[in-house]
Amino acid sequence: MPTTKTRVNLNLIVEEGLYFFESRCAQEGIELVRSLSTDLPEITADPAQLHQVLVNLVVNAIQAMPNGGKLTIKTLSDQAYVSLIVEDTGIGMSEEIMKQIFIPFFTTKEVGEGTGLGLSVVHGIVSSHKGVIKVESKIGAGSRFEIRFPITIRPEKKESK
Ligand SMILES: Nc1ncnc2c1ncn2[C@@H]1O[C@H](COP(=O)(O)OP(=O)(O)O)[C@@H](O)[C@H]1O
Ligand SMILES: [Mg+2]
Repeated sequence: MPTTKTRVNLNLIVEEGLYFFESRCAQEGIELVRSLSTDLPEITADPAQLHQVLVNLVVNAIQAMPNGGKLTIKTLSDQAYVSLIVEDTGIGMSEEIMKQIFIPFFTTKEVGEGTGLGLSVVHGIVSSHKGVIKVESKIGAGSRFEIRFPITIRPEKKESK
């Protein structure tokens, strides 16, 4: 996929993206909590791809909470990076499952519910933005995905000779 990188405020992507999940969360007994940094630096990124990352993580979080729960979306930053954090209080994952989640077509879901592509797409997008993904999970307690995007992406250097 070609990328169109521009200056992006991650908070806007989150606000726009979550709007479409509000009624679904309410219907499914999921409390949606936003905790967005008020002074988030912009990053150089493809907004459509950031949207895709958010959607894929949020869909997984919702699917992990069939009996309701709490979905928390946070943004924060430090000197070097801007983070998107998606946290749920769902079923969680075993170590064995966690090892495989980024493998294309790996899924623990019923046919029709999951294709196993969501997190491999997230991984591809985050890599192309030189970002990193941190995952924490506990069976029966929930999962936390943190995506860190570097604040400065060095421009591609053209060889002059
Ligand atoms: N928030 C989460 N809670 C529990 N398990 C998760 C979560 N996110 C991802 N997983 C696990 O990772 C697997 C792969 O996720 P993904 O690539 O999005 O594919 P899919 O959702 O289609 O199964 C899921 O099938 C599930 O086992
Ligand atoms: Mg998925």
